[in-house]
Amino acid sequence: MEKLVINGGNALRGRVKISGAKNAVLPIIAATLLGQDTPSRLDEVPALDDVHTIAEVIGSLGVDARFDPEAHQFFVDSAGIKYCEAPYDLVRKMRASFLIMGPLLARCGKARISLPGGCAIGTRPIDLHLKGFEALGAEIEIGHGFIDANAPHGLKGARIYLDFPSVGATENILMAASMAEGQTVLENPAQEPEIIDLANYLNVMGAKIRGAGTNVLKIEGVPKLKGAAYTVIPDRIEAGTYMVAAAMTRGDVYIENAISEHLKPVIAKLKEAGVIIDEDVDGIRVRCDKATKAVDIKTMPYPGFPTDMQAQFMAMLAVSEGTGLVTETVFENRFMHVDELKRMGASIKIDGRTSVVEGVSKLTGCQVKATDLRAGAAMVLAGLVAEGETQIGYIHHIDRGYDHLVPKLVQLGADIRRVEE
Ligand code: EPZ
Repeated sequence: MEKLVINGGNALRGRVKISGAKNAVLPIIAATLLGQDTPSRLDEVPALDDVHTIAEVIGSLGVDARFDPEAHQFFVDSAGIKYCEAPYDLVRKMRASFLIMGPLLARCGKARISLPGGCAIGTRPIDLHLKGFEALGAEIEIGHGFIDANAPHGLKGARIYLDFPSVGATENILMAASMAEGQTVLENPAQEPEIIDLANYLNVMGAKIRGAGTNVLKIEGVPKLKGAAYTVIPDRIEAGTYMVAAAMTRGDVYIENAISEHLKPVIAKLKEAGVIIDEDVDGIRVRCDKATKAVDIKTMPYPGFPTDMQAQFMAMLAVSEGTGLVTETVFENRFMHVDELKRMGASIKIDGRTSVVEGVSKLTGCQVKATDLRAGAAMVLAGLVAEGETQIGYIHHIDRGYDHLVPKLVQLGADIRRVEE
């Protein structure tokens, strides 16, 4: 097991380049299963453990999948899918494996996937995914820890309303509907930039999808899709994480490749906290030369404040001037980082779905752990400003979603290294 060791107090300065978006590339790799006749080549694919995992998942279906992390390229030839079943150990490792159900139903008319189970931040149900598949004509059976979906007569377009704009359910239904017979109308879908990226890739494959990024998706099913070349969008959450790091350490960082349009709530909240933000076509400059002011945040589906930035902002509020309220409306248990931050001296009280964060003058370094991906990022941010040494364990959570985190932070002047436990 490895851990991160950080000595806090350095202001971050310089440039950092943002990698491809984890939450765009995972559904897009699942969508490569829909491509027949020609292979797919994906560029700007981030070197993340989750990408290696989904490569294993689609490889287990008998598909030729090759990931080159150095070149940030992913190749898939899914002309022939031999198996339509994803094993428990892979699905348990990463919930996003469930995103292969839509493509398998569309391509093979059946899919057998183990129930994804919950994770640290919540029960993570899949009822909306299954409701969509049934609306498209699939028969769903759940038993012995597996979900069996069958559409022996193929999928038929339908009008579907999502009770909650679930990102995964929107993606799974979008992929299934792209090859269903007739039109599908999906109302109240997720509107995240990653949904638009998936729809763009599917359309390059020959799909007919309109309305991605709005509150109604219209899909005209087509009988066949072909593999295609595609470049994944930059990761707005990785970008947001470095923006908060620049603000907390009172530095001056240029976040190259960040797309401001994808980060409006994060930019607005950082400006409210007194951070200087300059946006241009190639990226975003973040400067701060004093303590940030406390702000209130409330996570919402896009275009609201992203839940994946909640933990990072809480780390910033822990050392801001004043008291900030953090309300998490998307997941029911996404405050696992609170206890870890309190070990470092943060003053936080949880009251239901809201955490009251009273800024303190300083945090002190100590041993903490990453409880999940974004909580781990929050602990890194806290360590960057804490007095003394912070050691972060269970960093496999962080490796799932941050590409070359340590080298990027070292290059910005942070005193951080990976060591064996
Ligand atoms: C995606 O997860 C992201 N993961 C998450 O990022 C992100 O936090 C989340 O969307 C919200 O933006 C990937 O894209 C791989 P949801 P997903 O379905 O699709 C409930 C990170 O840190 N729900 O939008 O699982 C669910 O319980 C990760 O990068 C149902 O009730 O999120 C949750 O409360 C963490 N029934 C809410 O919706 C369903 O069928 C949001 O879930 C599906 C979801």
